[in-house]
Amino acid sequence: MSYKDRFTFSFHIPTKIVFGEGALKETVKEMDGLGMRKALVVTDVALKDNSMVKSLMSMLGERGAGLFAEAIPDSSLEVVRRGAGSFRKTGADGLISIGGGSTMDTAKGIGVLAKKGQDDLRQFIGLGKVGEPIVPHIAIPTTSGTGSEVTMFATIKDHEAKVKNLISDPHLIPPVAILDPLLTVGLPPAMTAATGMDALSHAIESFHARGYEPIADGLAQQAIRLVVQYLPRCLEKGDDVEARGMLAIASTMGGMAFQNALVGCVHGMAHALGGMYGLHHGLANAILLSHGMRFNMPVSAPRYRQVGEAFGLDPRGKSDGEIGEMAAQAVEKFTRQLGLPQKLSEVNIPKENLTEVAKTAVADPAMRSNIRKVTDPGEIIPVLLSAW
Ligand SMILES: [Fe+2]
Repeated sequence: MSYKDRFTFSFHIPTKIVFGEGALKETVKEMDGLGMRKALVVTDVALKDNSMVKSLMSMLGERGAGLFAEAIPDSSLEVVRRGAGSFRKTGADGLISIGGGSTMDTAKGIGVLAKKGQDDLRQFIGLGKVGEPIVPHIAIPTTSGTGSEVTMFATIKDHEAKVKNLISDPHLIPPVAILDPLLTVGLPPAMTAATGMDALSHAIESFHARGYEPIADGLAQQAIRLVVQYLPRCLEKGDDVEARGMLAIASTMGGMAFQNALVGCVHGMAHALGGMYGLHHGLANAILLSHGMRFNMPVSAPRYRQVGEAFGLDPRGKSDGEIGEMAAQAVEKFTRQLGLPQKLSEVNIPKENLTEVAKTAVADPAMRSNIRKVTDPGEIIPVLLSAW
């Protein structure tokens, strides 16, 4: 598949990336650079008493307007509303998020409401509904997977409706991301593996998403190489700082790739399963990734050559279909080696509800950006069954 059919695109990477062991200490300098006087720090409930949050708060001193430690794994409209109230009460003029993807997404939501003087994020769900710069935001990831520190997306769950909503707007892109590998050394192996597979899914889905182009391809290919090389090392030795750093870079590069190329059917299905059953996003992607690749094979096989090469496979003398299948098998082997569940049945997804999952998945924005057009849930049910 050549680029020539529709060779126009725009590419966003406005984020300044500050990388390094101990880079957390650059936070105040970066606040100065953004003209941020006092920041509300947003973090996860589970990280409230964590030493990295404590050391950030003490570094900030009076520049820390307050700590909002109510982000939850699937961020909610209600949490964002409370966070915006906290922002106003503390007199902050900027945000620092320290945590995983949902924490960074929570801060993005708070940034929208704070800017707009509103309480309800629902009106901003969808594409390009924010329309103006939000309050400045420094994103500090403590997992390596979502890439949210460089993307224009925030996924906020409506817990009542059991649906994950997407807000997509270039103004959500954090102007500064601080990648400090020391912040991820304490992440347990299962979480390291699941979030790492989210990064790998972003990179691979960039190859079979509608917006694919050569810059995103380059970023995605390198992201795959780094995940394949360094994620196993992070699992063998959690405090391997070099491996942790490389995985953080892989995650950010995957984020850069997919926010431009977009993602596809794997994320569409993962969002549905996360909304309906609370299945961890990275784990859902890990289980579904090879199945989504095979679904897209009739359209995307030539594109998977680059995926295969990044896995170290030799594509010489192989047809597109052969190398595509080899790449899907390499993904399965890699996931198995990480010790992650391989099937939806292993994570208690009821088989009889897969039709409902397919219906929700087809309505997800990620499904609409899949390279192979999906309009009917019936097209996706066999993919879910093969992953079950
Ligand atoms: Fe993701």
